[in-house]
Formats: sequence, C-alpha cells, structure tokens
Amino acid sequence: MYANASGGGAPVKKVTAPEVRARKGSGPALAMVTAYDFTMARLVDEAGVDLILVGDSLGMVVQGLGNTLPVTLDEIAYHTRAVARASARAHVVADLPFLSYQVSPAQAVESAGKLVKEGAAESVKLEGGEDFAEHVARIVRAGVPVMGHVGLMPQSVHALGGFKVQGRGDDAARKVLADARAIEEAGAYAIVLEAIPPDVAAEVTRTVGVPTIGIGAGALCDGQVLVCTDLLGMSRGHAPRFAKRYAELGDAIVAATRRYVDEVRTGAFPAPEQTYKPNRADESGPRVSEQGKVVALRH
Ligand code: KIV
Repeated sequence: MYANASGGGAPVKKVTAPEVRARKGSGPALAMVTAYDFTMARLVDEAGVDLILVGDSLGMVVQGLGNTLPVTLDEIAYHTRAVARASARAHVVADLPFLSYQVSPAQAVESAGKLVKEGAAESVKLEGGEDFAEHVARIVRAGVPVMGHVGLMPQSVHALGGFKVQGRGDDAARKVLADARAIEEAGAYAIVLEAIPPDVAAEVTRTVGVPTIGIGAGALCDGQVLVCTDLLGMSRGHAPRFAKRYAELGDAIVAATRRYVDEVRTGAFPAPEQTYKPNRADESGPRVSEQGKVVALRH
C-alpha cells in the first residue's frame, strides 16, 4: 500500500504478478495496455488497467522505426522508469528487447535485473517458446516474474518473413501450444498470445495453467492487450485488424493544435486569462482588434 503517484488521494494497492497469475479461471478478464511515458501511464492507470506494458513497440510508436529490433535495453529502462513513477495500481511489465536475452540465460538474468533495478519494472516480458524456456527459468529463479510471449514474435520478423499470423495449420498450431507449455513450465506467470487463430488461442488458454493475454488472438483468452496509440486512435496509416480504436485522439490533437496555431497567429492567444498581471496597468500586452488580429505590440 502506498499513496498514489500524484501524491494525493487514498492509498492504492498495486497489482502483483502472483495476483495476475491467480486470475486464471477467476475474476474479470485482465486488461493490459502499453505506455511509454509518465503522462500516458498515469491516465491508463487511472482508467483501471491491470497491467501496463512498456513494450519494445516503443521503437515503432515512439521512435518511428519500421520494427522493434533496434530498441536497446537502456531505452526500455528509461521509459519504464517514467511509467513506473506514474503507475499507482497497475502492474508494470518491461519488455526485454532484441539481443538483450537471447545470447544466454545469464545475459537474460542480467538484463531483467537491470530493468528491475534501473527501470523499477515489476516483471519482464520476453518473446520465445521452447528455445527460451531455460532463460525464463533462470530469470524466475533470480526473483523476477516473467511474462511469456508466443505466436507472432515481432523480434523474429525477418525469420518469419513479415508480421504474419502464426499457428495456421496443425503443425504450426502444435508449435504454438508447445511453446506456451514450455514457457509455463519454466515458471512464467502469464503468456501473451499474439496474432494466432482464435481456436488455437482457445486451446492454449484451456491447456496452460497461467493467464493468456491476447492481441489478435480472439476473445477466448484470459485477458487482452492493445498498444495505447491504437486503442486511442492516435496511430496513422495501416493498422492491424485487431487494433480497435476506442477514441480518435489523433484527430482531436490535430484539431486542437490547429486552433492553437490560428490563435497564436491572430493574437487571440494568450488572452488576459493566460497572462500574469502587468507591472503597470498600461502594459498589458498586445492590442487586439475586434476580429482578434494583433494590431500593435505594446512595449
Ligand atoms: O511490444 C509490445 O507492445 C508488445 C505487445 C504488442 C504485446 O509486445
């Protein structure tokens, strides 16, 4: 228990990894969303999400890259630190970026530890199935909860030939299931299922004993995750089929900023309400015509 991030209000209890794990088969579905900075994290935390993911999707969302591969561990730690400061209730999960854990289980422990120590992450997420079970087990043994991520693993975009739906066909579906089982057995407390057919996700969800959190994996998961800019309608251009827009904040931002630009140009902003009292009554700022145009700057 501790005071919320803004310093006011009643103490708020944090969602923990064991509580997330215990939501398997009981309680409402888990709602996770990504965030990469303090302002967004504070808002989604206030909205009641259970988990905030500082995803390596920040490479695309924040940095404008074409994929997540260049994202560094330092960048994830930096963004996680900001998110953790804002999160009063939601559990904060930090992504292990490409090549911060694949090299060896020891590297995985060191990278996970850095995100906990420097980023104040409460758990870490990593992409990978059977081949990375040992990495998961070692991080868990070091005392850091791990969320798995199977199905479409964006860090393997080049091996997969693009961001494509995985688990189509019996062999591929069996592989997704085997991956999820291996990660569960290694000690993960939850597993993200990305871009797989809904029946495959349902089978994984039935089979594993930890919550599944779907993104493009249909309704029969134990929870859902969306990228915040997709959810809020701030992304432009192509959006994946599963990315439901709950608002059109992108359009709202453009419209509000256009009004600001117009008002700066006409002199309508700043008005007296946004201006400090002048030292002398005759030096109150620009003189503005009835049409809102600046007609003279007072000096
Ligand atoms: O990086 C990310 O945002 C993710 C989610 C899409 C699950 O891994």
